Amino acid sequence: MATQTLDATATELATLEIRGLRASVEGKEILKGIDLTVRQGEVHAIMGPNGSGKTTLANVLMGRPGYEVTAGEIRFRGQDIVALPTDQRAQLGLFLAFQYPTEIPGVSVVNFLRTAYNAVHSDAQLSALAFRKLLKEKMDTLGVDDEMVRRYVNQGFSGGEKKRNEVLQLAVLAPAIAIMDETDSGLDIDSLKAVAGGVAQLIGPNLGVLLITHYQRILNYITPDHIHVMMSGRIVLSGGPELAPQLEQKGYEGLRAELGIEGAFDEEDPEREA
Ligand SMILES: Nc1ncnc2c1ncn2[C@@H]1O[C@H](COP(=O)(O)OP(=O)(O)O)[C@@H](O)[C@H]1O
Ligand SMILES: [Mg+2]
Repeated sequence: MATQTLDATATELATLEIRGLRASVEGKEILKGIDLTVRQGEVHAIMGPNGSGKTTLANVLMGRPGYEVTAGEIRFRGQDIVALPTDQRAQLGLFLAFQYPTEIPGVSVVNFLRTAYNAVHSDAQLSALAFRKLLKEKMDTLGVDDEMVRRYVNQGFSGGEKKRNEVLQLAVLAPAIAIMDETDSGLDIDSLKAVAGGVAQLIGPNLGVLLITHYQRILNYITPDHIHVMMSGRIVLSGGPELAPQLEQKGYEGLRAELGIEGAFDEEDPEREA
């Protein structure tokens, strides 16, 4: 029988099932009926213009406070998780890499990661030494140097370092399903290569990924099994990797016109890095 721990990952593949999901923020409906299934080992990309609700979906899936699920369900490992707090979703094997990672002054990356690891793997605590070994392994895989993990979390980090740190977290926590929210945004081409290459190395039968992106360019490094286009809180088109170049050519406006979807795009996200 599945327990509420990561032990379950060893024996059965985890599935995230989203059915008819509607959600509101501050009384305004943002998600207007999302259906999506992500299995461990699969890579799904969600693409869409700014303001389409991608980050809202990520936050709702992770149970971030301030989002109200008004209809539908989110099931993970067969269990309805809508009422579960974020830490319990993480213990079940869900992970979210933030679009805008926050600074944690006074807490080093090493200590943060060890605390997070032990919180998520409550049944498999690691000693400081054993954790160091695990961390070193992941750092080597991803090409992260010692200096970075001694610094305070995200404090003074460049855009690229912040996103690398999210990928290091992903590697260390080893979730069943990872939601990556615009892990490519604000990166120059070298950082993008490093970050996307890191994620690509982690992808395998034990990891399912929901890769949220505005741009097609990260898909040059990570080939998704499925691509979904989100507009105005709905998935308006799903297909295989061939959708990416088609979208690149048409643009979201072109696709919107082609599908006859009403409404103009929301403004550019003011926080977005160039
Ligand atoms: N905390 C919030 N308060 C009010 N409105 C929000 C909040 N978060 C998101 N929204 C609104 O929800 C819509 C979708 O935003 P978001 O999910 O960030 O889209 P995306 O990630 O696709 O750019 C936008 O209209 C945005 O203004
Ligand atoms: Mg977003």
